[in-house]
Amino acid sequence: MEKKNIDWSNLGFGYIQTEKRYISNYKDGAWDEGTLSGDATVVINECAGVLQYAQTVFEGLKAYTTDDGHIVTFRPDLNGERLEASARRLEMPVFPKERFVQAVTEVVKANEAYVPPYGSGATLYIRPYMFGSNPVIGVKPASEYQFRIFCTPVGPYFKGGAKPLTIRVSDFDRAAPRGTGNIKAGLNYAMSLHAIVSAHEEGYDENMYLDPATRSKVEETGGANFLFVTKDGKVVTPKSDSILPSITRRSLVYVAKEYLGLEAEEREVDLSELEDMAECGLCGTAAVISPVGKIVDHGREICLPSGMADMGPVTKKLYDTLTGIQMGRIQAPAGWIHVIR
Ligand code: PLP
Ligand code: COI
Repeated sequence: MEKKNIDWSNLGFGYIQTEKRYISNYKDGAWDEGTLSGDATVVINECAGVLQYAQTVFEGLKAYTTDDGHIVTFRPDLNGERLEASARRLEMPVFPKERFVQAVTEVVKANEAYVPPYGSGATLYIRPYMFGSNPVIGVKPASEYQFRIFCTPVGPYFKGGAKPLTIRVSDFDRAAPRGTGNIKAGLNYAMSLHAIVSAHEEGYDENMYLDPATRSKVEETGGANFLFVTKDGKVVTPKSDSILPSITRRSLVYVAKEYLGLEAEEREVDLSELEDMAECGLCGTAAVISPVGKIVDHGREICLPSGMADMGPVTKKLYDTLTGIQMGRIQAPAGWIHVIR
């Protein structure tokens, strides 16, 4: 398989159209058998549920080339499960997780020429999504849906790769208590756009969102969960019902305990505790673990002891172990690696 002529090492996190995408339509209470298509354009009615009432959910995962030349994905069954949960919450039909994994496999195989080579620093980002496609004008769920998966080769989510980020505590909330913060719905991202644009204008890389009920606890950013390392070397991740259950974060907690012998706990993290942290990272499929060097809370500056030059030592170990597992250099726990080719 001849790879596309792409400057893999200099890719940012952007969209590059690839040859094939997967499409399945839901009508009269059932999904069709699904197909691969060369057409990147979606044609829907002007009154489609997704356009009027934002009835759409999505996922994000990556395909990696391993050190021995295989193409793999990382825990795609968990993305399939999470998409099922997201769909249920927005009254959408479930695209079964077994079919999800099969569809991911087909679309990656069909775009093999776009899977970045081992060692290039790039990966193939896979974006499954689903939306209400038939006309809906009264507020109610659509009765027809489209499920699609496209993929695009990507580099690091944050410019500068592993350079520590500066983030601010946001004045906006991302999710309501008992709202949709724990699912991957497009609406959660639409409402974070103003906050991220103004954060960038003010020189910050990302927002730290707080719990919307009391605004005293750390939740997550617009596109990643937090992972902290305390000064006594314990890994701590915020527990909340209104954050997305990140697959990367859950995997890192396992890696911390089982591979690195660290103590790890998921618990509420109070804003006032940030000074006690030695390291902070943003973890997610796109972010992998992006280190945070400074957190600004309305003039109160918290400079993480790990500094602004490099990843902290524990973050680095977690990063190296996780990416080692994903790229086949380190033995993975059973069931984590789905071999595509
Ligand atoms: N939190 C939010 C809001 C996200 O959009 C993402 C990205 O998917 C994550 C966390 C990280 O989740 P995962 O590790 O499953 O990619
Ligand atoms: C991902 O990490 O897959 C996401 O969906 C986050 C998004 C901000 C790119």
